[in-house]
Amino acid sequence: MIHYHHLGSVPPKHHVTHYENGKLLMEQCMTRVGFDSTYSILYYRIPPTDEFAVRAMELPGFCPISPMDRQLLHRRHIKTQNLKVDGDFLTARRTVLMNADIRVGISKPNQPAKHWFSNGEGDECWFAYDGGGTLESVYGILPFKKHDYVIVPKGTPYRLHPDGNRGTFLVFESDSYIDVPRQFRNESGQITMDAPFCHRDFRIPTEMLRYDRAKHGEPPYPLVVKHANQLSVHEFKHFPWELAGWDGVVYPVAFNIHDYQPRTGTVHLPPTTHITFAGRGFVICSFVPRKVDYYDRDGVKAIPCPYGHASVDCDEILYYVEGNFTSRKGIESQSISLHPMGVPHGPHPGTYEKSIGHDRTNELAVMCDTFKPLLLTSVADSIEDKDYHYTWVKRENEAMETSK
Ligand SMILES: [Fe+2]
Repeated sequence: MIHYHHLGSVPPKHHVTHYENGKLLMEQCMTRVGFDSTYSILYYRIPPTDEFAVRAMELPGFCPISPMDRQLLHRRHIKTQNLKVDGDFLTARRTVLMNADIRVGISKPNQPAKHWFSNGEGDECWFAYDGGGTLESVYGILPFKKHDYVIVPKGTPYRLHPDGNRGTFLVFESDSYIDVPRQFRNESGQITMDAPFCHRDFRIPTEMLRYDRAKHGEPPYPLVVKHANQLSVHEFKHFPWELAGWDGVVYPVAFNIHDYQPRTGTVHLPPTTHITFAGRGFVICSFVPRKVDYYDRDGVKAIPCPYGHASVDCDEILYYVEGNFTSRKGIESQSISLHPMGVPHGPHPGTYEKSIGHDRTNELAVMCDTFKPLLLTSVADSIEDKDYHYTWVKRENEAMETSK
């Protein structure tokens, strides 16, 4: 939820007649937490219940998905830059980390969007690593650009077209919601003046979707739905996603990470100062280029590099996008590091001291902290740098036992 919006044609009241060319439109209320929370009301030309066939589907590496059986407590480095997949935004999607609250995946489409998809398990947050595109959904057309977060609410039929039919995306899949953290809302739901973004930073669908035979094809129109860790394909005789209009607060939004307004302290602020979105059991944070900590008095200076920490209630992952990440060595763009609760972590040797006196960092990264342990899938295992756990002590030419 960002703010109330309406697009297309809606009647003056809820639950009243609304005609288009003499035909009564079908109202559909998309409600959260039963009927007690946020909602949008959509006006369908073709009822969304008009499916005539349902069949099962499986996408190995995405759904169904389960974690590996036995996992040693290690700091992890998952090299998603080495993930090789083919398909569209859905079939080129793989899950690498998961717990009961959130799943973290990568999608690397190299084909035009073919499928329509609806995640019936929770909200999704797509981060566009290397380019823009367009999200088509029942709420309309939402263009997005490089380094945008695109939040797609639970139960939204959509498809995602990367520009040039190619792209790389980090995808968070919540078991609940993904929203602006509560502390950035005032009592009226408005984003507060001291939040790291404002309402104007969020972009919303700009026009309703219109059926185009060349683009959307001939019937049947299949919708892949994810529910209870299974996929089912629902087939429609008529194109169901062309709506007359909608209003409410549930709809997809785009937010560019470079519109995030970072904070800097006299001394180092905890990583949660970069919080951007939150869901049940996790937060998503944005590390963007910024000035760094500047305490300097009587020869005592701030250390801009993060301090070592044992955040004993959180697992922490970082997806590295661009720039030099001040605290880590051996990490490349598209790497995901996982620093689990149970063992301390901190900057790699040398990086801590080297950061003293720096006044800026150009790092760009997305962080996710979770309150339940994240476990690797077999996809993550296949692209893991198995030496990472030991790279804090390993010296050049020094042999080291690993768990490989
Ligand atoms: Fe950390």
